[in-house]
Amino acid sequence: MSKDLSVKVAGVLFPNPVIAASGTYGFGEDYAPLYPLSKLGGISCKGTTINEKAGNLPPRIAETTAGMLNSVGLQNPGVDVFIKKYLPELKKNGNVIIANLAGATIDDYRAAAEKLDATDVDMIELNISCPNVKQGGATWGTTCDGAASVTKAVRAATKKPVMVKLTPNVTNVTEIAKAVEAEGADCISLINTLLGMRIDINTRRPVLHNNVGGFSGPAVFPVAVRMVWQVASAVNIDVVGMGGITTWEDAVEMMMAGAKAVQMGTAIFTDPYSPLKVIDGLEKYMEKNNIDSLSEIVGTVQPW
Ligand SMILES: Cc1cc2nc3c(=O)[nH]c(=O)nc-3n(C[C@H](O)[C@H](O)[C@H](O)COP(=O)(O)O)c2cc1C
Repeated sequence: MSKDLSVKVAGVLFPNPVIAASGTYGFGEDYAPLYPLSKLGGISCKGTTINEKAGNLPPRIAETTAGMLNSVGLQNPGVDVFIKKYLPELKKNGNVIIANLAGATIDDYRAAAEKLDATDVDMIELNISCPNVKQGGATWGTTCDGAASVTKAVRAATKKPVMVKLTPNVTNVTEIAKAVEAEGADCISLINTLLGMRIDINTRRPVLHNNVGGFSGPAVFPVAVRMVWQVASAVNIDVVGMGGITTWEDAVEMMMAGAKAVQMGTAIFTDPYSPLKVIDGLEKYMEKNNIDSLSEIVGTVQPW
């Protein structure tokens, strides 16, 4: 068996459509001892800001039924360390390396994008959807004006393909998608985490120190499929789907909803090999159904 699983997203060729989702794979350092990172289609690195960030106070993780809550709060070493220390190692793998960029101000985004522009990173994923930071994060992604202004600033700062990552914590996701498309986004990824909360009934305190956090994992999958379908139907740029993908069947479903590629996050915490199993399952699915290119299934859902 040797099917060609490659996909093109915003003109960038991925050897297969399975990408490790930002914040769940670090900079690949914990997974490199397990298998060659080159087996993945790509890696979206931990959310990076212009300066180092310590993140939120613990507890920052809580398990929930069929998912988890996190309030990590963009802990990261800053864009300079990413460029100097992690990027050169990651680029040796030969697959697609995506920098995931977050910021409190438009100037933060612009300055970090300018630095990344001078590197050989393949793509910039603009995180305007983090629910776990007080300043910036999802506040950019919840209004058309906010989403458009960050996209515009980053577009002007770099020639790299820009993938804008949307939050599900909005009423009308297609409006935001169209706003970032109009400002020059090359593609869109979604969904980031849903805003959630758990309470310890003994202490009557929220389980997370941040009180609220981002909800991810298998439980959010139907929400993600719905939003990917809505966005893919509304824009003319490529869409990358994520949110609860655990199996190859989930990946096929997400692609039928309109995603050209998929990202996997929380599933990797339960099984670090899950992305490889999804890649393997996709290849067998192509064999069985006589599919030569995965583009044949993208957006093929037939709505009633
Ligand atoms: C612990 C954790 C940290 C995350 N950090 C980031 C981040 O730094 N930047 C980002 O864009 N998304 C971040 N996310 C969101 C994921 O990339 C993804 O959008 C979300 O978890 C939904 O996918 P999943 O259900 O497959 O995990 C994080 C998610 C988790 C669980």
